Amino acid sequence: MRSYAVSSLLLAHHCLALSQYLSSLPTEFQSSHAKWAWVSYESPAVAVIPGSFNRTALQAPHEGDASDPIVREAFSQLNETDFVAYDQRFFHLIGPDATIDHVQELAYQTHEAPCFDQATGNLFFAEWGPPGGDNGTHDWQYLLNTRNNSLQKIKTDPPTYNAHGCVIYDSQMYVVTDGYEDVETGQLVRIDPNTWRHETILNNYHGQPFLGFNDLDIDSDGNFWLTDSKSAFGRDLIEFSNPTNPTIYFVNSTTMRPRPVHITTGNTNGIAVSRSQADPSVHTVYLPDTGFSEFKPVSRKNPLGDRALFAYDAAEGGVLKNARFLNNPIAWFYDGIRASKNGYLFAGAGDGVDVIDPVDGLTLGTIRVGGGENVAVSVAFGKNELWIVGRGGVWHVNGVKEELARDW
Ligand SMILES: *[C@@H]1O[C@H](CO)[C@@H](O)[C@H](O)[C@H]1NC(C)=O
Ligand SMILES: *[C@@H]1O[C@H](CO)[C@@H](O)[C@H](O)[C@H]1NC(C)=O
Ligand SMILES: *[C@@H]1O[C@H](CO)[C@@H](O)[C@H](O)[C@H]1NC(C)=O
Ligand SMILES: *[C@@H]1O[C@H](CO)[C@@H](O)[C@H](O)[C@H]1NC(C)=O
Ligand SMILES: *[C@@H]1O[C@H](CO)[C@@H](O)[C@H](O)[C@H]1NC(C)=O
Repeated sequence: MRSYAVSSLLLAHHCLALSQYLSSLPTEFQSSHAKWAWVSYESPAVAVIPGSFNRTALQAPHEGDASDPIVREAFSQLNETDFVAYDQRFFHLIGPDATIDHVQELAYQTHEAPCFDQATGNLFFAEWGPPGGDNGTHDWQYLLNTRNNSLQKIKTDPPTYNAHGCVIYDSQMYVVTDGYEDVETGQLVRIDPNTWRHETILNNYHGQPFLGFNDLDIDSDGNFWLTDSKSAFGRDLIEFSNPTNPTIYFVNSTTMRPRPVHITTGNTNGIAVSRSQADPSVHTVYLPDTGFSEFKPVSRKNPLGDRALFAYDAAEGGVLKNARFLNNPIAWFYDGIRASKNGYLFAGAGDGVDVIDPVDGLTLGTIRVGGGENVAVSVAFGKNELWIVGRGGVWHVNGVKEELARDW
């Protein structure tokens, strides 16, 4: 009897301590199909961890170590979840009906450039870089029919080499590429999704080749924001070395005249442009740096490399002003980033997609992709759903309460 009493007391203590680090879920989330955790600073156990503990910037929160077995177990429980809330607002955005499914299990290599066509239900995306393709070079892309989950490989006419970013605007696909070998340099192309005709609309800056585009966004005036990065050289997709440092170009879509608006000795990667919540006539540009991810002379993730997410206001002609430091990822680095209809930022961040408030910069929560080798790289929005592509394939997040796809 006594030992029973002791063990149930221990169990009660154990649950209490766990529930101190992981707060109990709001009532309507307790019966969700998805697995949730809530890490809230309203619980003092989150601000102060007893004993010793450690986690590097390369490790997701679930990989954290702690000498206290109860805290250690709370960390590892995060690896069992689909959604981790760090803020009440995340519950309101995602809602209790949201689910996440790993709909396509693909190679543990980078998948990129997702574009979701709401009219057809097709998700276009790319397998990027080595070890896939022809020595890393891909002259094909994937097309996922999301209505029956059938996946095919497509080739545009002429082929699109090393597609890296995609946005659908006015029923046309705009895709940026890295180019390949010493044959082709990075380009901005327009692809007609009905005929798969590919037309190059920009391939140089006053005669200088681009390094290799990583991503793009298109603002509500239809102008382009392109991120030119050193990743293609870093992964040996192109044979020339960087002619300049990674640069963001604003391209006036009327004249197709590119102008550099930002340059970094780290690396460029994703970009999101949305109308300012405070003043819809102003575009806000969100730029994560990814100097954290190094390629040469050795390929490694350097926790001292730059990972900061900055927000800027775009002035006439694309000049960036009012720089503000918005966030630094809880873990890993921000890869693809998109702004939802109401401006919330969704960024591939390794262990999952981080959802970030565009004004106060706080990480509201993480949509997880299952742990292990899986990595969330980039996202595409539907109305109340999103698609995540990355290492390990494609995930579908359905039943999201917040409307995600923008209408420009
Ligand atoms: C934390 O972990 C890292 C990586 O394992 C290690 O280099 C560092 O020394 C650890 N720090 C402490 C305080 O244990
Ligand atoms: C999925 O739907 C598309 C378009 O209707 C059709 O062409 C394709 O054969 C279907 N695939 C499967 C596996 O049902
Ligand atoms: C593949 O790329 C590597 C690195 O650039 C190069 O050394 C090698 O020769 C290439 N192999 C082929 C078959 O092109
Ligand atoms: C783009 O170029 C056109 C034609 O020169 C000009 O009228 C327009 O103001 C430019 N747009 C921006 C945002 O600079
Ligand atoms: C997290 O969970 C995944 C999937 O079950 C597993 O492969 C991985 O090893 C786990 N990670 C840790 C650090 O336990």
